[in-house]
Amino acid sequence: MPKQRLEGKVALITGGASGIGEETVRLFAEHGALVVAADIQDEQGHQVAASIGSDKVTYHHCDVRDENQVKETVKFTLEKHGRIDILFSNAGILGPLSCILDIDLNEFDNTMATNVRGVAATIKHSARAMVARRIPGSIICTTSVAATIGGTGPHGYTASKHALVGLVKSACSELGAYGIRVNSISPFGVATPLSCKGFNFVPQQVEDFSCSQANLKGVVLKARHIAEAALFLASDESSYISGHNLVVDGGFSVVNRSYPFTPVDPNSLVAD
Ligand SMILES: NC(=O)c1ccc[n+]([C@@H]2O[C@H](COP(=O)([O-])OP(=O)(O)OC[C@H]3O[C@@H](n4cnc5c(N)ncnc54)[C@H](O)[C@@H]3O)[C@@H](O)[C@H]2O)c1
Repeated sequence: MPKQRLEGKVALITGGASGIGEETVRLFAEHGALVVAADIQDEQGHQVAASIGSDKVTYHHCDVRDENQVKETVKFTLEKHGRIDILFSNAGILGPLSCILDIDLNEFDNTMATNVRGVAATIKHSARAMVARRIPGSIICTTSVAATIGGTGPHGYTASKHALVGLVKSACSELGAYGIRVNSISPFGVATPLSCKGFNFVPQQVEDFSCSQANLKGVVLKARHIAEAALFLASDESSYISGHNLVVDGGFSVVNRSYPFTPVDPNSLVAD
């Protein structure tokens, strides 16, 4: 049996009914954590929990745009498990793709309410629970490659994810005094309902796109890669890492693809 990297820890994961959140619920449970998966897709969330086992995962309804629901979800987690060691604040929406000249500001507000305000609410209430119990917890937020560059998603989404990286640094600066770490993960395109519906792609098209644009070849980005990054940041293996934005994009956002680099043919190299 592989080492259980989250044995004895309690994790709250938002957006836990689907995609990256669901995969992280599964991985954290495999590693011994007791998980509360929170989402607004109740049927799907209950199915995820049931497929793993009610002794390990509980589903709880929570719309992160509503602070009272966030507060109540943290309370539910504390009543069920007595503590909260890990917050994976992952729930997010893409919002509609539109030109800035035609941007729908109500949709913009909804994206900000979910991706920024919602995350702030989860940090607030989870961190209050950690501080009160003197728990040196780990808070992880899902940002995006759209947090550092433009042109990879809708305007509201890009603005929200840039803001989120700032929120993570800001929360890190305060919560370090209590031994609480705050980090983020910035994924490139993963085939999930968010990316498929948002860009009108089937999963294979999302994967083909990411493979074609990433600098790193030979690996197809899956939700599991993001879950593994979250596992690292949640575990004691990252115990001195805080304020970090862990970019999981196969080098996409740091490479200038217009530079004329031609790979050599491996067959042309003579082995020593
Ligand atoms: N898939 C990608 O390519 C990609 C890339 C970069 C970042 N991300 C980020 O990853 C996170 C997870 O997205 P995903 O790709 O797994 O998509 P997904 O749609 O599969 O999962 C997102 C989950 O969040 C939930 N959610 C949405 N609004 C909510 C709300 N108000 N309250 C509670 N839950 C809510 C949804 O119901 C859904 O289950 C998001 O923050 C997204 O921005 C995704």
